[in-house]
Amino acid sequence: MAILETRRLILRPFRQQDVDLMSELMMNPDFMRFSLGVYSREQTLEFLNKLIGWQNRGLPSLFAMIFRNTAVLIGYCGFYHQHIEQSDDIEIGYRLHPHYWNKGITTEAARAVRDHAFRDLKLPRVISLIHYDNIPSRRVAEKIGMTFEKEILFRGSPTQVFALIREQWLAMGAA
Ligand SMILES: CC(C)(COP(=O)(O)OP(=O)(O)OC[C@H]1O[C@@H](n2cnc3c(N)ncnc32)[C@H](O)[C@@H]1OP(=O)(O)O)[C@@H](O)C(=O)NCCC(=O)NCCS
Repeated sequence: MAILETRRLILRPFRQQDVDLMSELMMNPDFMRFSLGVYSREQTLEFLNKLIGWQNRGLPSLFAMIFRNTAVLIGYCGFYHQHIEQSDDIEIGYRLHPHYWNKGITTEAARAVRDHAFRDLKLPRVISLIHYDNIPSRRVAEKIGMTFEKEILFRGSPTQVFALIREQWLAMGAA
C-alpha cells in the first residue's frame, strides 16, 4: 500500500503497533462523533486488524494520518469498504483528533486520498456517507469536489451519500 505525502501530513498504512494511540483516539467521544459510539481497546484492535487485512490483500484501506511536524498519529483518512443498497462502494472516510479541527487538515488528506483513488487505483467512483447533522464532514466532502447523490437510512440514521465519479475528477483537472 502506498504512502501519500501532503504539505502537513504523511498518510501511511496502519500497523498493529498503532493500537495504543488509536485506542486513545477511539475512546474519545469527539473523535467518534456521528458513529455508533466509542471503542474499547479490543474493538480498536479488531478495527485495526480489519484494516491491516485489507492492506495485506492489496485492497484499499484507511491510512494513518501522521502530523509531519511532530510525527504524531492524529487520525485517519482513506478508503473503507461499504455495501449500500445491494452495491459495493468505496468510501473516503476520515476522523481527526479534535485539537486539529478546522485547520483544513482533513481536506488536505482527503484530496490526496481522492487523487490516489482515481490516479493510481483507477477507481470508477468514491462516496462519503455523512450524517445529516455533520456539517464539518459535509464541508470536507464538498471541498474535495463531491456532490450530494441521495439520502439513505444507514445504521438507523438518515445519512447523505456524497459521490465523485472518475469523469468528474478528470474534469476538475486534478489528474
Ligand atoms: C469531520 C472532520 C474529520 C473534519 O476535519 P477538519 O480537519 O476539521 O476539516 P477541515 O478543517 O478540512 O474542514 C472543516 C470545514 O467545516 C467547517 N465547519 C466546522 N464546523 C462548522 C459548523 N459548526 N458550521 C459550519 N461549518 C463548520 C469549517 O469551517 C471548514 O469549512 P471551510 O473550510 O469552508 O471553512 C472532523 O470534524 C472530525 O474528526 N469529526 C468527528 C468525526 C467525524 O465526524 N468524521 C466524519 C464521519 S462521516
